Amino acid sequence: MDFLRNKFRLLRAARTVGLAGVIVLGACLGYGQTTNSCLDCHSAMPDPLGVTQEKFSQDIHAQKGLTCTSCHGGDASSYDPTVSMGAKAGFKGKIDRKQVPQLCASCHSNPTYMKQYDPGLRTDQLDQYHTSMHGKRLAAGDGKVAVCVDCHSVHDIRPPSDPRSTVNPVNIATTCSRCHSDAAYMKPYGIPTDQFTNYKTSVHYQALMVNGDLSAPTCTTCHGNHGAVPPGVDKVQNVCANCHVFQAQMYEKSSHKAAFDALGLPGCVVCHSNHGIHQPSDAMLGTGPQGVCMRCHQPGDRCDQARVKIQSGLMQLDGAITQADQTLSVAEASGMDVSEARLAQSQARDQLIKARVTIHTYQASLVDQDVQAGLKIAAKDEQAGKDAMVERNQRRIGLGICLIAIAIMLAGLWLFIRKIER
Ligand code: HEC
Ligand code: HEC
Ligand code: HEC
Ligand code: HEC
Ligand code: HEC
Ligand code: HEC
Ligand code: HEC
Ligand code: HEC
Ligand code: HEC
Repeated sequence: MDFLRNKFRLLRAARTVGLAGVIVLGACLGYGQTTNSCLDCHSAMPDPLGVTQEKFSQDIHAQKGLTCTSCHGGDASSYDPTVSMGAKAGFKGKIDRKQVPQLCASCHSNPTYMKQYDPGLRTDQLDQYHTSMHGKRLAAGDGKVAVCVDCHSVHDIRPPSDPRSTVNPVNIATTCSRCHSDAAYMKPYGIPTDQFTNYKTSVHYQALMVNGDLSAPTCTTCHGNHGAVPPGVDKVQNVCANCHVFQAQMYEKSSHKAAFDALGLPGCVVCHSNHGIHQPSDAMLGTGPQGVCMRCHQPGDRCDQARVKIQSGLMQLDGAITQADQTLSVAEASGMDVSEARLAQSQARDQLIKARVTIHTYQASLVDQDVQAGLKIAAKDEQAGKDAMVERNQRRIGLGICLIAIAIMLAGLWLFIRKIER
């Protein structure tokens, strides 16, 4: 009997100690951070099931205090998989691609919820997404299109402003090209897969990626982040007007606008292309391989005549500016002050730039106005350079005469002294 009672006491004591141990252990685990059984198990697992603390701590959701269960459901306090990943705790399991937009939108399309965190954050991503080709195809059951996590990544989602974010302007083209440059992946759709290759050769890529000009467009600037196009733009092809305002205003009023619309041609893109936009030059107005006008117009017709007039006007002004520059350089090298004319040269250059914008009216007479204004300034500067050279020559002649006079005087003086000495 005693033996039994002792054994019972021993068991009770052991149970008490064990329980205390569990509590202490629990307290230790809980010290400084709450238990996350999900992370503890999954950080030790290989891909695709592995999610490490190191990765997840980079995620904006982790940083804002959300955790695995915010998206997956389940019970992060239990190490028993049947409980932590049990149906009772509302565990959703792996989220199917087609369900991802709904999951993200459960918070992001809820203004009341999102306002608690950041009142400035938009809550229209899902609505916008539905208007895009991605959203429309997903709704039709195509799981290959981009869903939220394809652009934003998963478990290390960062705000777009973070340079390491997959949707930071400098990384977007790479993010899109994962699918859009993959010829095998895109094969069923029969659309080109050269957008990134061409974009890399463009003035826009050069401005954004090489010169760090964040006002230059990347894929989503033209195609919209979530919607089919950026706000205020009806068609992608009209997006250029957002930034190139003057060219667009002129094009809008031109007869090309009406003619291209009637033919269903995409405006600016007809002459400049969409992804591989290169630095324009007067050669675009020529008849060589870079020429664009003769793709449609016939030699000698009234449009071709306008083209010839526009091109020769631009070349004349360009030549006149170069010529005046050279004359001014020679004058400067001779020590003449022509700084005023130098300054005026920049006005002539502005007229050339203006003329190249005015091209978009396709009216030779309007381009000619800018050209003539530029030619007038360049001619004045050229004259200033020439005048400076004339002045230099006159000064030289004057100097020469002076020197001869002095020499004669010295000779006279020498003769005079010799005479006195004698
Ligand atoms: C005891 C370790 C353990 C814990 C705790 C645990 N998991 Fe798992 N989890 C696993 C294992 C093992 C698998 C893979 C086995 C399987 O497919 O059923 C898995 C699978 C998953 C999957 C993929 C399911 C699928 O359908 O492919 C998700 C998502 C997941 N866990 C999330 C969670 C979340 C969220 C928590 C916390 C609430 C959690 N896990 C807690 C071990 C664990
Ligand atoms: C912001 C929402 C969100 C949070 C928070 C989140 N997940 Fe996920 N998780 C997802 C989505 C969405 C997928 C599906 C990704 C896909 O389709 O590629 C996923 C996939 C998974 C998978 C399955 C991977 C596979 O391919 O089978 C596991 C396992 C997983 N998550 C575990 C976790 C763990 C553990 C945590 C916490 C450390 C966590 N998740 C936090 C959204 C989230
Ligand atoms: C449980 C609610 C919830 C879910 C589900 C959720 N998010 Fe979030 N998300 C938030 C909160 C809260 C923030 C923090 C907002 C802040 O303060 O900037 C956030 C921030 C973000 C940000 C950064 C926004 C910024 O500019 O600061 C992105 C991007 C993002 N989430 C994408 C996603 C994606 C993609 C999914 C689906 C895989 C998702 N979220 C699912 C709640 C959620
Ligand atoms: C095709 C790629 C793509 C898809 C798909 C996508 N996003 Fe985005 N998302 C972006 C880009 C690019 C930005 C960055 C915008 C910027 O530069 O400010 C962004 C920004 C965000 C932001 C920050 C706030 C904002 O609106 O600018 C949130 C939140 C967000 N996305 C949530 C989502 C959710 C939720 C989904 C799914 C319904 C989703 N995104 C689908 C590309 C995408
Ligand atoms: C997960 C792969 C994937 C990613 C990532 C992706 N897309 Fe797509 N995208 C597709 C698929 C598939 C289609 C459907 C093609 C079609 O129907 O013509 C598509 C369609 C499009 C279309 C419409 C093409 C058309 O037919 O007119 C545009 C524009 C587009 N994507 C732009 C983007 C941009 C910009 C990004 C990056 C911010 C991006 N996509 C990221 C897979 C992707
Ligand atoms: C300067 C604006 C601009 C930029 C930057 C841009 N696009 Fe486009 N994109 C367009 C225009 C305009 C079209 C033609 C639309 C039309 O004809 O209706 C187009 C067409 C497309 C199409 C349809 C298929 C095709 O090639 O005609 C896809 C897909 C696409 N772009 C993806 C991308 C991707 C990916 C990037 C980034 C690498 C990108 N775009 C960058 C303006 C742009
Ligand atoms: C988000 C603003 C933005 C959009 C949209 C945009 N561009 Fe640009 N573009 C720029 C910037 C910035 C530069 C570089 C500025 C510079 O070097 O003068 C540039 C340069 C150019 C140049 C070279 C001009 C020069 O003088 O160097 C051409 C041509 C051009 N873009 C045409 C287009 C066309 C055509 C579209 C539409 C398909 C378009 N752009 C859409 C901002 C934009
Ligand atoms: C019919 C052909 C054509 C169309 C359409 C066209 N352009 Fe141009 N664009 C040109 C030519 C030619 C030049 C070259 C001027 C030069 O350097 O001689 C040019 C030059 C430019 C330049 C750089 C020169 C400058 O300083 O202005 C920009 C920027 C530009 N175009 C934008 C646009 C935009 C935006 C649109 C649509 C609103 C557009 N273009 C439509 C033919 C066209
Ligand atoms: C995609 C075909 C196409 C291209 C490229 C094109 N045009 Fe045109 N152009 C037309 C059409 C169509 C019309 C309207 C029909 C007409 O007036 O003959 C037109 C009209 C004109 C006109 C008459 C304008 C007026 O107000 O009467 C001129 C001038 C002209 N184009 C010059 C040019 C020049 C210069 C270029 C090259 C920078 C050019 N076009 C490139 C198709 C084109």
